[in-house]
Amino acid sequence: MLNDKGFDLWADGYDQSVGLAEEEGSYPFAGYREILNEIYHKIQAGGKKTVLDIGFGTGTLAAKLYEQGHTIWGQDFSERMLKLAKAKMPEARLYQGDFSNGLIEELKQNRYDAIVATYSLHHLPDRQKIRFLMSLLPLLQDGGCIYIGDVVFDTRADLERQKEWIGEEWDEEEFYFIVSELAEVFPQIKFQRFSFCAGLFCLEKAETGSSSF
Ligand SMILES: C[S@@+](CC[C@H](N)C(=O)[O-])C[C@H]1O[C@@H](n2cnc3c(N)ncnc32)[C@H](O)[C@@H]1O
Repeated sequence: MLNDKGFDLWADGYDQSVGLAEEEGSYPFAGYREILNEIYHKIQAGGKKTVLDIGFGTGTLAAKLYEQGHTIWGQDFSERMLKLAKAKMPEARLYQGDFSNGLIEELKQNRYDAIVATYSLHHLPDRQKIRFLMSLLPLLQDGGCIYIGDVVFDTRADLERQKEWIGEEWDEEEFYFIVSELAEVFPQIKFQRFSFCAGLFCLEKAETGSSSF
């Protein structure tokens, strides 16, 4: 699992390496651009929004929204990613912090029209992911939505099949989303698939299902 220093080292080559994997249509970034575009268009519909980006990286998505006048807040633990993103969005409120410990205090005080997390939450084990998502829901404005674009499989059996097919490239240290499992906890969640290995969840503020998480 990459820690903050690992992401610091990846930061300068990140956009290029993701672009290459994305163009090849290979795991794990097949569908990456389409997912970010879809989130961008969903947030663009309507007026100016307050957006929280969790694990913003180099700011690929957040900077596009920033350019359109949306107010951007964000948290990422990589100092280098933060620096690159800040250069693109000087007025954005970007903070350094490890989301495995939750959001930093400043971000918890605000309310958001949209919360986005692209290719970041698979760094949290499943139970921690659920707890984190539950802690984010109260931070949404009414009608707001959490957009999660990430590596995702329909069922645990599908994940196992893909893991076998992908072979050595498979990253054993990441915890990918499973649609059927997330839908049990959040019955209101909507899902759209963009590639064999990636898709987009929209989680609106609503009653959550009962769960043991
Ligand atoms: C694969 S990159 C995705 C970046 C960007 N969201 C995108 O779609 O291109 C994952 C990002 O999440 C950040 N990240 C991973 N684990 C984190 C954690 N525990 N706390 C805060 N940031 C984390 C990394 O520093 C990195 O910027």
